[in-house]
Amino acid sequence: MNVTIFGSGYVGLVTGTCLAEVGNHVVCVDIDHDKIERLNNGEVPIYEPGLDELLKRGIEQGQLEFTTDLEKAVGHGLFQMIAVGTPPGEDGSADLQYVLAVAESIGQHMNEYKIIVDKSTVPVGTAEQVRTKVKTALEARKVSVEFDVVSNPEFLKEGAAIDDFMKPDRIVIGTDNPRTTELLRMLYTPFNRNHERIIAMDIPSAELTKYAANAMLATKISFMNEMANIAERVGADIEQVRQGIGSDHRIGFQFIYPGCGYGGSCFPKDVQALSRTAKAIGYDAKVLDAVEATNAQQKEKLFEKISKFYGGDLKGKVVALWGLSFKPRTDDMREAPSRTLLERLISKGASVRAYDPVAMDEARHIYGNQEGLQFCESADEALLGANALAIVTEWKNFWSPDFGNLAEQLSDKAVFDGRNLYEPGALKPFGLRYFAIGRGEQVA
Ligand SMILES: NC(=O)c1ccc[n+]([C@@H]2O[C@H](COP(=O)([O-])OP(=O)(O)OC[C@H]3O[C@@H](n4cnc5c(N)ncnc54)[C@H](O)[C@@H]3O)[C@@H](O)[C@H]2O)c1
Repeated sequence: MNVTIFGSGYVGLVTGTCLAEVGNHVVCVDIDHDKIERLNNGEVPIYEPGLDELLKRGIEQGQLEFTTDLEKAVGHGLFQMIAVGTPPGEDGSADLQYVLAVAESIGQHMNEYKIIVDKSTVPVGTAEQVRTKVKTALEARKVSVEFDVVSNPEFLKEGAAIDDFMKPDRIVIGTDNPRTTELLRMLYTPFNRNHERIIAMDIPSAELTKYAANAMLATKISFMNEMANIAERVGADIEQVRQGIGSDHRIGFQFIYPGCGYGGSCFPKDVQALSRTAKAIGYDAKVLDAVEATNAQQKEKLFEKISKFYGGDLKGKVVALWGLSFKPRTDDMREAPSRTLLERLISKGASVRAYDPVAMDEARHIYGNQEGLQFCESADEALLGANALAIVTEWKNFWSPDFGNLAEQLSDKAVFDGRNLYEPGALKPFGLRYFAIGRGEQVA
């Protein structure tokens, strides 16, 4: 089938390469000329395991094309998938300008029936806005062409995006025209072989499903962080508590890791946007607001611990920082807790020696020549001349460090772990002090 995808970011690229891999002819369009040029040269602009290989194969086999030519793109696909960003606007609600710009482009160029598929995470009512934009553009051209708008939110996770797309937990299709469900069912057949994954529903429910899913996951994280904060104060070990509650099948072990807060391009903005949607219709979403506030507080946690350890005086201190991406297996640093920590440390006169296995380019792109921030080539290099170590991302290569070496390198022998990677007792024999989340030693 012919598919056009607007937006060649994390979602658009993965969707495009996976649909091409199973035999569709996919045209990906983006307004970022530089990105499209790099993609046409087979260069993947983001880090996503497995994406390079699929992308190269798709291009070589002529199943996958990249363009900035809107007319060509709209002319190509029966399916016009919108996978552009929906960042937070000034008041935290989803900024739909990119989605609606795509809708307008489709209306300006389409000459035959199209199924317009909202893959971006968008608030309830957006499909209607897309429909109106397309209609208005068609009317301006004085042409009458049929089209449908479908909500098909994407649930992939960065770091495991290919697998998630190829073997999704569910494929949500929100539509008011059963014919589009059948056509999308055909498109998704290769990903729906093992068992029925398609869940068809009305459009507003599909739009809300995506927000509800992310809000639920964010709630689990903030809940656990709150438990960790209580554990610290009552002398309990949150890791033991986690084992204790995760073993209950109704709770489960997933998404109950305490830490230094969630980040990324989805949870923070989606929890906020859903709360703003609720406010706009006169409903006060107390749980969502608490989830957001708890997370904002949690992102300050490591800084507070480090600052307290130094009695509030961080001038001249050197902190090694392991991990910059918001989670492992991605280079995405949007809303990453590492950013909160390094910015706070630098603002208080400390300097930071940062290392991440894949996000160094992204960090350079964001911070450039930021005073007080040194980019390092390895985890060991980050330790050179450091007083203390802070761990923010749970990359596997940080899971089992040489504690003897840490003790030797860190002049203040202090480890601040935002991901609870180690057993507190394991560091003691090396003379290291270990400050984690909801367990271990507390800063007096
Ligand atoms: N990143 C994730 O893990 C993830 C997962 C599920 C859903 N989502 C949702 O999917 C959407 C896209 O997220 P992302 O992380 O892929 O975004 P992204 O920022 O990585 O990519 C968006 C791309 O859209 C392009 N773009 C903007 N306007 C355009 C236009 N008019 N025409 C063509 N291209 C245009 C940008 O240049 C950019 O390359 C968001 O709504 C997000 O919430 C993201």
